[in-house]
Amino acid sequence: MSRLAKLVAREVLDSRGQPTVEVEASGDDGAFGRAIVPAGASTGRHEAKELRDADARRFGGRGVRRAVAGVGAEIAPAVLGIDLDDQAGLDARLVDLDGTPDKGRLGANAILGVSLAVAHAAAASKGEELYQHLHCLWRDHVGADAAGPTVPLPMINMISGGLHAGANLDFQDFLMVPVGAADFGGALEMASAVYRALGAILRESGAEAALVADEGGYGPKLRADCHAVERILEAVVACGLEPGRDVAIALDIASSRLFDPAAGLYRLSATANDVFDSAGMIDLLEHWTRQFPIASIEDGLAEDDWDGWAALTARLGGRVQLIGDDLFVTRTDRLLLGVERKVANAVLVKVNQVGTLTETFATLALARRSGYRAIVSARSGETEDATIADLAVAVGAGQIKIGSLARSERLAKYNRLLRITEHLGPNPPFAGRSAIEL
Ligand code: PGA
Ligand code: ZN
Repeated sequence: MSRLAKLVAREVLDSRGQPTVEVEASGDDGAFGRAIVPAGASTGRHEAKELRDADARRFGGRGVRRAVAGVGAEIAPAVLGIDLDDQAGLDARLVDLDGTPDKGRLGANAILGVSLAVAHAAAASKGEELYQHLHCLWRDHVGADAAGPTVPLPMINMISGGLHAGANLDFQDFLMVPVGAADFGGALEMASAVYRALGAILRESGAEAALVADEGGYGPKLRADCHAVERILEAVVACGLEPGRDVAIALDIASSRLFDPAAGLYRLSATANDVFDSAGMIDLLEHWTRQFPIASIEDGLAEDDWDGWAALTARLGGRVQLIGDDLFVTRTDRLLLGVERKVANAVLVKVNQVGTLTETFATLALARRSGYRAIVSARSGETEDATIADLAVAVGAGQIKIGSLARSERLAKYNRLLRITEHLGPNPPFAGRSAIEL
């Protein structure tokens, strides 16, 4: 049994050049683990809070020196000596030490960095791959009937709008899901072909697709949001693939950003120049699902529009995956509310929304018990850290959302999944079409 002997934290930069927290954990047997914390742009109101310096002289106030200092001054003294395998004990101690409901005192960025770095060190100490260690923890959490490690079906960003691409489009993410792929490598091959074909189509139409957005997707100037889906489907066909059969469409509306709470209305101003109440948004989304082969819609309504969400789920939940991201923020209390109110049928899982590995397992376990799908997700601000690839495999989440097939902070995760696929041996379990189809 190895014990936590050392914690080192530092400020490093993420894929947007913004500061974030890196933590290194060492065991008394020399085992070593490192993790870097991601950051969102379209963050939900109910997420755990990052601690930022608010010192305008550095990084526009977004420095994380206070979070880093807290790891050395407060967290290390409280957790050094803990058994590296005791992830639940570590995470409980971190939560208690912080003492606030949103982790705002020490910062969810500091806390998550420690939580994940220790998991890496524990895996190293046992001589296991991270996904194997996380699978052991997951089995401890949900019981021995947990399914074995499974490579997830990816949903891959093709076109970005909203906060990830200078508000060029109203909706945030237009993704393709390679539902026809037989294995993970095949899914990436399909996605890469479509991504390149889409680039050519956008350039030919003069849509200024030369630059990529925060998650590596194109950030074109289009006259209407529906044109984004139409261009993706053209690219799918150009690759000799069949929309609906080989490739489905997924959307992240990220509609909390569109919602005007004072008026109770959704304002689509980038392309549509239109205003909707919840019922109008539901009609719009239903129309889209009739027009296009859409398998999944994330944050179709705003983070606190529970009544709207219930109506949306009643209308579309039987045939479309409806994911709560800002709605659930990876928290069990909010997901439980969703289950009780029959709201959504899937949860997006972002480790930094909740702030510890154990709380992430709790949300994944609740989703599993409640018949909700789970999609492990990256943030728009990422790094070379690929922990979420191992997490998605370990818990058999079924789906993963990383971004596009561009920018190395995205490819780090896809490539990690390729390595894990190989490590799993011949015929590795791949979630495939059934992970998303209802
Ligand atoms: P974010 O975007 O990381 O900027 O929150 C990702 C998402 O909304 O799913
Ligand atoms: Zn989202």
